Amino acid sequence: INKYYKMWFFSKMCESKTRLDGKTVVITGASGGIGKETARDLYARDARVILACRNMEKTNKAVEDIKNNPPSWMTKDEYKNNVGELAIYSLDLRSFKSVRDCAKNLLTNEAAIHILINNAGVIMSPSYERTEDGNETTLQVNYLVADIEFDDINLERSYAPIRSYAQSKLANILFTKELAHRLKEANVHGINIYCLHPGMIPRHSNLTSFPETAALPLHIGRQTIVNTPKNYGMYPVVFHIWNQKKILSHLFFNKMCTSKARLDGKTVVITGASSGLGKETARDLYARENDDMVRKSTVTFRMTKDEYKNNVGELAIYFLDLRSFKSVRDCAKNLLTNEAAIHILINNAGVLMSPSYERTEDGNETTLQVNYLGHFLLTLLLLPKMQSSSANCRIINVSSAVYIFADIDFDDINLERSYVPFRSYAQSKLAIILFTKELARRLKEANIHGINIYSLHPGLIFTGIARNSNRMFRGAAFCVCICDNICVKKLFFKNVEQGAQTTIYCSVDEKTANETGLYYSNCGVSTTYRKANNRHYAEKLWNLSCRLLHLEPEENFSTFLKTVSRQML
Ligand SMILES: NC(=O)c1ccc[n+]([C@@H]2O[C@H](COP(=O)([O-])OP(=O)(O)OC[C@H]3O[C@@H](n4cnc5c(N)ncnc54)[C@H](OP(=O)(O)O)[C@@H]3O)[C@@H](O)[C@H]2O)c1
Repeated sequence: INKYYKMWFFSKMCESKTRLDGKTVVITGASGGIGKETARDLYARDARVILACRNMEKTNKAVEDIKNNPPSWMTKDEYKNNVGELAIYSLDLRSFKSVRDCAKNLLTNEAAIHILINNAGVIMSPSYERTEDGNETTLQVNYLVADIEFDDINLERSYAPIRSYAQSKLANILFTKELAHRLKEANVHGINIYCLHPGMIPRHSNLTSFPETAALPLHIGRQTIVNTPKNYGMYPVVFHIWNQKKILSHLFFNKMCTSKARLDGKTVVITGASSGLGKETARDLYARENDDMVRKSTVTFRMTKDEYKNNVGELAIYFLDLRSFKSVRDCAKNLLTNEAAIHILINNAGVLMSPSYERTEDGNETTLQVNYLGHFLLTLLLLPKMQSSSANCRIINVSSAVYIFADIDFDDINLERSYVPFRSYAQSKLAIILFTKELARRLKEANIHGINIYSLHPGLIFTGIARNSNRMFRGAAFCVCICDNICVKKLFFKNVEQGAQTTIYCSVDEKTANETGLYYSNCGVSTTYRKANNRHYAEKLWNLSCRLLHLEPEENFSTFLKTVSRQML
């Protein structure tokens, strides 16, 4: 979180001293702003810098300015003797003809091109404008791709300045990824492609009215360009936030599970149901026992006490301490012995940010074992029973959106060398998403149908989960808590009943019946980002988890499940 916080709020400078002697760099839109600053920096590193721009007068002035003023990290004397070359090419991205001419000139005149920086951009033209090629101007200048607003990429029917700008920038990211992919597939090596967010910078393009106070100093913008590989990982976060519709609904709406599905005759196992979301989920599922029950108003979703008296299922308690594999095995044994069937397993228990490093009796870091490894084992042990229970079983893994900040440290998954409470929590929550995807894949490959597996983010809820976390976190939580009625809490936090809704949705809703391996938030499927999408990660984590449990991952999943049961029960 430190890393991302710094990326948003601090201006990190590129510390590289790399020289670019003999290298040629092409920068589009280098007549001002970030492009010009980037040109200055690379020129000072001895590159031949080509400014590809449309306004020659402005670009000539930029060249003069670059020649006379060194970047902040170089003295004037050093600058005099240690610079590269500057050249100007005409390029107007509003015209494909101009793009082709510019490319032709570059190919004819330049012996080599080592770095291409597609920097030029326009932002939010208030009125709809077309280029001579018939495309909406922002799209064509910032990027042209045929694949976002599939039916109307030029936004003829739905032009909104911000929408057009955002679409063009999203297109840039997709283009970056796709080009990287295609180069790799074609075995074309030695060309790396990056996309980036430079930060907010005053006087960027024609955004003159942008509040200066909210922006960072101009010269900072170039730093990300030079420092791209480090900051590349930030994109999914920007993306995530940018995905307005979703983020708005995540933040401001509490979607309730509207399913009236009944669970008559079904057995549900919920870990960590003594409080918080687990208890609330148990309350809801317990109330879904009898056919006669009618759910009350869709607004409150509350049953009357009388309805509740007569229309409920059964409650049973099993002892489970996820800090101990022995306890997990014992709990599984008891469940397998005493329960005729298990239809739904909800891996909900969790601990958050223990301030000090703690190990379980099995030698693992506590957060990792409670939030992930214990559930991994419990699931494997209960799977055969679920397989024979019904053709419609579900496993729900409660994760958290903080997974987005996480990475799996494969060399030190127990974080012995680098324990940070938040890191450990986020890693465990990423692990449970990867587990969800990998298990879904393995079940499918093994032709085991009828067990769907889901992971989810429940929202932000004031439960007791922070009770053991560090003082700063609890302090922050307390501050928000005492502001009970101010909008912050109302907007960003859910109450416990609302927080349990996505778990309930994944457990019972008919719409999710044919889905598996997906991640949910606010009672709907949500996109996963970064490491959570890495299929190799999921597989690697599976194998590592097996090693930590002293299990041998086998090719055949059905045999593997039998071996686990034999070894562990
Ligand atoms: N609250 C949020 O804002 C939020 C956001 C994202 C994700 N989540 C996730 O939602 C899940 C539920 O959390 P919550 O907010 O409802 O917190 P909670 O009220 O603290 O509930 C956590 C539950 O986990 C149980 N648990 C803790 N350690 C355990 C262990 N070693 N073995 C067995 N059970 C154990 C607790 O039991 P004891 O009381 O006996 O310790 C408790 O019942 C967690 O996985 C959490 O990471 C919560």
